[in-house]
Amino acid sequence: MTRPVRLAISGASGRMGRALSGLLADDPRFELVHAMVSADSVHAGQPVFAGMAGSLCHACDWSRAPEIDVVVDFSGPAGLALALDHCLAHGVALVSGTTGVDAALETRLADAGKHIAILRAANFSLGVAVLTRLLREAAAALPAWDLEIVEAHHGRKQDAPSGTALALGQAAAASRRTTLEAAAVFGREGRAGERVEGSIGFAVVRGGDIVGEHSAMLIGQGERLELGHRATDRSIFARGALQAAYWLAGRSAGHWQLEDVIAKPR
Ligand SMILES: NC(=O)c1ccc[n+]([C@@H]2O[C@H](COP(=O)([O-])OP(=O)(O)OC[C@H]3O[C@@H](n4cnc5c(N)ncnc54)[C@H](OP(=O)(O)O)[C@@H]3O)[C@@H](O)[C@H]2O)c1
Repeated sequence: MTRPVRLAISGASGRMGRALSGLLADDPRFELVHAMVSADSVHAGQPVFAGMAGSLCHACDWSRAPEIDVVVDFSGPAGLALALDHCLAHGVALVSGTTGVDAALETRLADAGKHIAILRAANFSLGVAVLTRLLREAAAALPAWDLEIVEAHHGRKQDAPSGTALALGQAAAASRRTTLEAAAVFGREGRAGERVEGSIGFAVVRGGDIVGEHSAMLIGQGERLELGHRATDRSIFARGALQAAYWLAGRSAGHWQLEDVIAKPR
C-alpha cells in the first residue's frame, strides 16, 4: 500500500491497547482511525494518545467508524464479537489476540474466514512464531528423540502449562503425525515409571517477574538439541500484532497464521 494502513484498535484502553497505541504514535506505516472501549468504560471520549487531540475512544460504537483496512483486537470475547460484526459487514481484515473465546464465537470466527482475512494467535511474539517453525522441523527430522517442553512465567500466572507451551507441543505432535492428546505427559511425581516412547513431556516453573520463557529439548543418545525463547518485555506482543496487521491488510479472505507473516527460507 502506498498510503498508511487505516487501523482501528478494539480494546484501546487495555494493557495491550495502550502498548499498541504507544507504538502507533511513531509508526508511519499506520493511521489510527478508530479506537473502541467497552460500553461503560471510564475511557470513553478520552484521547487515545494522552494529551493529544484527534482519535478518541468510542464506547462500543462501530457505527461511527470511518473506512478501516484492519482491526486489531485485544479486548475480550464480547469486544471481539462486536469487532467481527463490523469486519464482516464492511469487508475489513481482523487481527485478534483475544483469548477465552467460547465455542459459539469460535464457530462464527471459523465461518468468517470465508468472507474476510483473519489472523489470530495466542502469542503474537515473532520469536515464538520462528521457534514454532524450528520445532516443527526438528521434531520431524529427529522422530525418535525424546521431546520435553519447559516453560517459566511469573508467579501470578493462573494456568499451566502456558497456552504457548501447549501450542508448541501441538505443532511438534502434528509434525510427528500424532496429537497432543495422545502424546502429552503433564508433570511427573513419585514412582512415575519409565518415560513412554514418543511422549511429549511438559514441565512448569513459576516465580518472580518472569515475562515468559519456553524451551523445547530434543534428547537423543549422547546429544541434545535445545530450542528456546525468552520474552523480557510485553511490548513484543503489540509489535508482533502490528507486523501481522500490516501484512494482513488487503489480503484475500481466509485464516492466516503468524507463521505466514515471518519470511520463509529461500
Ligand atoms: N495473543 C497475545 O499475544 C496476547 C497478549 C496479551 C493479552 N492477550 C489477550 O488480549 C485480551 C486483552 O488483554 P489485556 O491484558 O489488554 O486486557 P485489559 O487490560 O483488561 O483490556 C481490555 C480492553 O478491552 C476493552 N473492552 C472490554 N470489553 C469490550 C467490549 N465489549 N467492546 C470493546 N472493548 C471492550 C476494555 O475497555 P475498558 O476497560 O476501558 O472498559 C479494555 O480497553 C485478553 O483476552 C488477553 O488474554 C493476548
